Amino acid sequence: MNPTDFGALGCAKLSHPSGEALQAGCFDNYAAEWSSVKLVLAFAACLLTGCPGDPVFGPPTEATCEPGSTLTYTNFGKPFMETYCTRCHSSELVGSQRHGAPSFHDFDSLFGIKAVSEHIDETTAAGPAATNDGMPVDGPTPTLDERRQLGEWIACKMPP
Ligand code: HEC
Repeated sequence: MNPTDFGALGCAKLSHPSGEALQAGCFDNYAAEWSSVKLVLAFAACLLTGCPGDPVFGPPTEATCEPGSTLTYTNFGKPFMETYCTRCHSSELVGSQRHGAPSFHDFDSLFGIKAVSEHIDETTAAGPAATNDGMPVDGPTPTLDERRQLGEWIACKMPP
């Protein structure tokens, strides 16, 4: 074996007598493989919880349900969504009518809101840990007080 093989790849001991490196055990290779595994994991996590650096998403607001909260879907959630969200996020809109709003993010029903309420909190609500204003992307925007109420209503598990 040629002594110059040692060290160069961090795996010279695995060099085949023919001089061809058997790279299976090489540290460099593991490192490269691990970093692509990490990329894939990061991408999968980002699909679930929002991609880091994506300005649309902020952290969870940590809003809490005030004892005696009177917010309901009827008196708060529905009018809030209709004022600020359903012109893009509605099950009645298709294709370009959605202005890019993703499928299954339809806020014209309580069911549709509950399905992605964590994402709504992380894009639109306000609470002790964060004021998230990634949504709506344009048009009339909720006041800070309305964003706080949204956080509270979600924290109260969105009573009808
Ligand atoms: C003008 C159209 C428009 C309006 C109005 C709007 N959105 Fe969006 N929404 C979008 C678009 C476009 C995206 C995709 C943005 C992206 O992923 O960068 C999006 C993405 C989202 C997402 C993230 C979806 C995901 O999981 O990737 C949530 C949650 C959301 N909007 C909630 C809301 C809420 C709540 C409102 C009302 C306060 C609202 N949006 C108003 C267009 C809109």
